[in-house]
Amino acid sequence: MNLWKSSLSVVASSLSILAVSTLVNAAAPEVDYQKPLPAAPEGQVTFKPPQERDIPNNQYGDMVRQGRDLFVNTQQLLGKNVFNGQNCVNCHLDAGRLASSAPMWAAFGMYPAYRGKNDKVNTLSERIQGCFTYSMNGIPPESGDDTLVALETYFHWLSTGAPINQALPGRGYAKLEKPEGGYDRERGAKLYTAQCAMCHGDDGSGQQVAGQVVFPPLWGDGAYNWGAGMHRVNTAAGFIKANMPLGKPNSLSDQDAWDLAAFVNGHERPQDPRRRSQDSLDSTVKTFHNHDGLYGKEVNGKRLGDHDNYGENPGLVSK
Ligand code: HEC
Ligand code: HEC
Repeated sequence: MNLWKSSLSVVASSLSILAVSTLVNAAAPEVDYQKPLPAAPEGQVTFKPPQERDIPNNQYGDMVRQGRDLFVNTQQLLGKNVFNGQNCVNCHLDAGRLASSAPMWAAFGMYPAYRGKNDKVNTLSERIQGCFTYSMNGIPPESGDDTLVALETYFHWLSTGAPINQALPGRGYAKLEKPEGGYDRERGAKLYTAQCAMCHGDDGSGQQVAGQVVFPPLWGDGAYNWGAGMHRVNTAAGFIKANMPLGKPNSLSDQDAWDLAAFVNGHERPQDPRRRSQDSLDSTVKTFHNHDGLYGKEVNGKRLGDHDNYGENPGLVSK
């Protein structure tokens, strides 16, 4: 049985948590916090976050360490805020330090951010809550919650000496030009079998050792949901090129990275939670999926996302 599955009964037995989820349901997020980040400025990455041994031994340092632990082992929050098999560090590598892996030192000073499209100021808490809702298929901690304070304190420390309100080279993920001939899931499938399946599994469900996720799931109930930024083929292609196979960064061609991203993201995963506030799959696609993704598209004779499976998240049961 999967780790995140075994926790479900505990959660389901707690009426108070179900009540909270109903509230979350009512306030379904309408703002797309998962919009792609702007391209990072060109140029060498010069910023270096402080070393872990330099975390001070005081209350601030304790909070930094707590945030770091939550970031690396987010499964600590399984069944409360997290309902899949992901840790923040799975997509923000090296504990949120790695350049072009959406590092947290480059994010911290860029919030609050103003977004003209919905005429709204987005805080760092809201951006983190977005990754809880979609990447972790979760129920985000409320603003001011200790979890968010700890994570933000960790990012504050990582960004020691970084400018505020100035984008730095290395922010976000690498952007890869789309190949002229587009992408090909069949080619991606072959590459996946040869170079990825040994860690992420033939069925994309990843691997656990002694109850700990060692290789994250890429599709299925344990994976990021249909609202997550990583489901965009372009975003996953940039991530894969720079980081996968693990330990062999930039070994794949751009075409390979796109083909692999399309193969991985051409599989089912938990429903986009915003589907609850929409009448149909079509309107969800129209409202929230105006980007390079396969949600709502036909793959192997079935429309992706045409289902009622919100994974293990008890707050997302919809009819
Ligand atoms: C499945 C992959 C995935 C996981 C897991 C994940 N994220 Fe993210 N995160 C992303 C993507 C994708 C983006 C947006 C990148 C883009 O659009 O270019 C992002 C962006 C962010 C940003 C904004 C970065 C910036 O420069 O503005 C923050 C902050 C963040 N994530 C925090 C977290 C935290 C905290 C967790 C764990 C609770 C987490 N993420 C888990 C994929 C993930
Ligand atoms: C040696 C084992 C290994 C191999 C081989 C490997 N990965 Fe990974 N992959 C990982 C680990 C571990 C992580 C999480 C990184 C971390 O936590 O530092 C990861 C993270 C990811 C993620 C982030 C998204 C998520 O849901 O967490 C994607 C996408 C991904 N891998 C795709 C691939 C693809 C495509 C290939 C084949 C080209 C591949 N991986 C090969 C071990 C591997």
